[in-house]
Amino acid sequence: MTNDGPPFGGVIYQVYPRSFRDGDGDGVGDLAGMRAGLDHLAWLGVDAVWSSPLYRSPMADFGYDIADHCDIDPVFGTLDDLDAFVADADARGLQVWLDFVPNHTSDRHRWFEAARSSTEDLHRDWYVWRDPAPDGGPPNNWVRHFADAPAWTLDERSGQYYLHHFLPEQPDVNWDTPALREAQLDVLRFWMDRGVRGFRADVVHLIGQDRSYPDDPPGVDRFDGRGDFHHHTSTKEHLRAIRRVLDERGAIIVGESYLEQPEVLLAHVGDDAQHLSFVFHLLGAPWDAAEWARRIMEVESVFEPAGAWPSWALGNHDRPRLATRLGSEARARVAATVQLTLRGVPCLFQGDELGLEDAIVPPDRVVDPGGRDGCRAPVPWTEDPDAGWSSSAWLPLPPDAATRSVAAQQADPASTANLYRRLLALRHAEPALVRGAQRILGGADGIPDGVLAVQRTDGVDELVTLAEMAGRGAVLDRRWASGWTVAIDTQSAGPREGTPFDGALDADTAIVLRRA
Ligand code: NOJ
Repeated sequence: MTNDGPPFGGVIYQVYPRSFRDGDGDGVGDLAGMRAGLDHLAWLGVDAVWSSPLYRSPMADFGYDIADHCDIDPVFGTLDDLDAFVADADARGLQVWLDFVPNHTSDRHRWFEAARSSTEDLHRDWYVWRDPAPDGGPPNNWVRHFADAPAWTLDERSGQYYLHHFLPEQPDVNWDTPALREAQLDVLRFWMDRGVRGFRADVVHLIGQDRSYPDDPPGVDRFDGRGDFHHHTSTKEHLRAIRRVLDERGAIIVGESYLEQPEVLLAHVGDDAQHLSFVFHLLGAPWDAAEWARRIMEVESVFEPAGAWPSWALGNHDRPRLATRLGSEARARVAATVQLTLRGVPCLFQGDELGLEDAIVPPDRVVDPGGRDGCRAPVPWTEDPDAGWSSSAWLPLPPDAATRSVAAQQADPASTANLYRRLLALRHAEPALVRGAQRILGGADGIPDGVLAVQRTDGVDELVTLAEMAGRGAVLDRRWASGWTVAIDTQSAGPREGTPFDGALDADTAIVLRRA
């Protein structure tokens, strides 16, 4: 990969379509709602909109179980609605990216229905079938996601088990079967022909598999954290094939590779693999400046020399919301300021720009098999009691929906949404924040404990983000008390912004400095 980085240096915004905006009043978000929400995204200043799956699906995993890759589920609209969304986004300078789900399909996909119909069917090898273990049980000890249960289900008709890393309704496909691989590449071509400019690749680290299916080492009884050893080198060959198809049309791919070790993750990024990979190392990090610094350096010590760009994500539809995890909106603002000034391509999760917290979901309204309903609560648009949703919204609204709504926050210069907007504007105005070099500053630079300091410079401009994470405030030494202008202050609409920095940092705040 060249040191210029990938051909996309913008900011990605994730839409979870069921919860973004409802266009037809049935309580579930849809493409009409997504079109109506585009002005908010243009106002915010993001560059690409990635939508979680919109394809036909029985919704066992809310769209990550695809029954037809080349059609839109009626709950979201039609292919014409998708085309209109792409055109409207394009008119606002926004790229549309879709979710590519390469590792599995729905068990109701015609490929799987055919594969299951007979061991002789041409589609049989499009999935992973194995004979039972000698005791009649599953072929190995793998555990599936969302439950402490085997990753294999017995198909009574053939007497063989099929593999599913996720729900039994989500059988894994077999990328070593050439016809399956070509069919998947055709899916990418289909959407690129409709103007889609990029893809987020779901659990893409799983598509290359050790076909001997060895047992997991002892002591592993949960899916989480197993990514590194379900990583297989053949994934790289499949990524190359994907990349060749994308390069024909200049489309971008960002992978969801749940691989802990940056060295392993790096194998999935580069000129012959994906343009970008999500990096989740800050998503689960304790709120501690030294630990954030350590994690950023751990990733960058591997990525930066290789010319690879991390795509830092602080939230998504699978994890508790940023403000909920960190315990306050003030901290969430600090985190966003760090995220949006780090080297790489930040990915924002819808509603984090509003400082939303997870919804409280009573037991009788739980719908997700993976316990992720809270972060998937509808985005509040208006200050009305229903926040722009009908009374039958598929999930409860998040706390303080009216005051956190898009309408309320766009009108309030001190809101979190306006902070994100200023950060995004700064990122667009300062090339050093996009392609500049990065260094984590420390004690030798006059940075006190409890403060995370990130320096960005492109040889022309220099910016430094200071994030107070110890909750006690800090006063920096004399080196910092002159020669710097405050570009961003998380605390307010910015009476301090544009003024000289005096060296003082309040508790739970961040500022971005520009060398005067
Ligand atoms: C990761 C997705 O983000 C998650 O929502 C989904 O359940 C699994 N992959 C399976 O597709």
